[in-house]
Amino acid sequence: MFGRWFRRKGSSAAGEAAAAGEHLMDLRNIVKTYQSAAGNFTALKNVSLTVDSGEFVAIIGKSGSGKSTLINMVTGIDRPTTGEVIVGGTPVHTLSEGQMSVWRGRNLGIIFQFFQLLPSLSVVENVMLPMDFCHMYKPSERRERAMILLEQVDMAEQANKLPSAISGGQQQRVAIARAMANDPPILIADEPTGNLDSKTATAVFKLFEDFVGRGKTIVMVTHDNDLARRASRSVIVSDGEIVNQYLAHALPKLSLDQLITVTRQLDRLIFQPGQPIVQKGGSPDYFYIVTKGKVEVIIDQPGGGELIAEHLGEGDYFGELALLSDTSRRATVRAAHDNGAVEVVALDHTEFHALLDDSEATRLDVTRVAEQRLSASAV
Ligand SMILES: Nc1ncnc2c1ncn2[C@@H]1O[C@H](COP(=O)(O)OP(=O)(O)O)[C@@H](O)[C@H]1O
Ligand SMILES: [Mg+2]
Repeated sequence: MFGRWFRRKGSSAAGEAAAAGEHLMDLRNIVKTYQSAAGNFTALKNVSLTVDSGEFVAIIGKSGSGKSTLINMVTGIDRPTTGEVIVGGTPVHTLSEGQMSVWRGRNLGIIFQFFQLLPSLSVVENVMLPMDFCHMYKPSERRERAMILLEQVDMAEQANKLPSAISGGQQQRVAIARAMANDPPILIADEPTGNLDSKTATAVFKLFEDFVGRGKTIVMVTHDNDLARRASRSVIVSDGEIVNQYLAHALPKLSLDQLITVTRQLDRLIFQPGQPIVQKGGSPDYFYIVTKGKVEVIIDQPGGGELIAEHLGEGDYFGELALLSDTSRRATVRAAHDNGAVEVVALDHTEFHALLDDSEATRLDVTRVAEQRLSASAV
């Protein structure tokens, strides 16, 4: 079962898994409510998130927004109040504590902000510990393997020191070697560079890039925006909710609060290959953003026949022209034929206009795109 975890995104196996609706990680409708004497606090409000094999995902957001709570659902450190967490086909939220620790040891490398090395064990013993626990490597191999991992993070020379005798940056590198001890397919890191200077943070980040380069998957919480930009995807968490990433890409001038409000309003729609999404002559009812696959914008030719004027992909929007001018649709847009079902999210007419009223910068951007499309199709 774990074989496919190691394949790079884009390989045919990953493609088949995606087509069947399978993701490496699938968090479905997660609600997490903490109960305390002071009352209940809902830290995650119906959050859904998928991560595919080979992705490097950065989770960003303000302090207290729910980032740690979110990744603790994946590691099984904490459990959802309601919702499901499926990782590599395993329903993590249903595992007993005993099953959880075996599963975690074999499948996840976990890195925390405060390293959490055992103070009484030497550096190399810290790295051997997960191997001793999971029995994936023979006892006779473990020390040598730990030394190879320490070499990879440039810490082999400190192998016999206690954690207290090395710097914070060095401790974090040891923690990374420890996280990789059982060669897990997935690395989960909670602010791994939060206590490091920027040079050390960059070095740690480089190790992560190498890890992803070997076909592995990383989910990393960070509030370093420069590092987040170098990940393959950012997920924004705000007040226990996740901003729709395609919305953030399509309308980048929206504030975080606006992104959250609009995310709540989006309707998700699925179209089969070749199926029309908007029809020429139709009424200006919705604004659309492509969230999966490609769509084709089709213009009728003067002599009959049709012309594909444009292909739009994930994070592109359409349908703005008719809404801005309050006229009927000028073109037909349909799901492309070549790539399975297409997903879009839609905002209705009223919500779209309220959004533009709320963000003048977005109005300017969307109007500019509409004008460019109009002049291109008039040629
Ligand atoms: N064990 C807990 N009991 C009660 N509230 C908690 C607990 N853990 C976290 N919270 C609250 O949940 C919210 C999200 O916390 P957290 O996920 O740690 O945020 P982040 O990692 O984004 O800083 C915060 O308001 C925090 O105070
Ligand atoms: Mg946190």
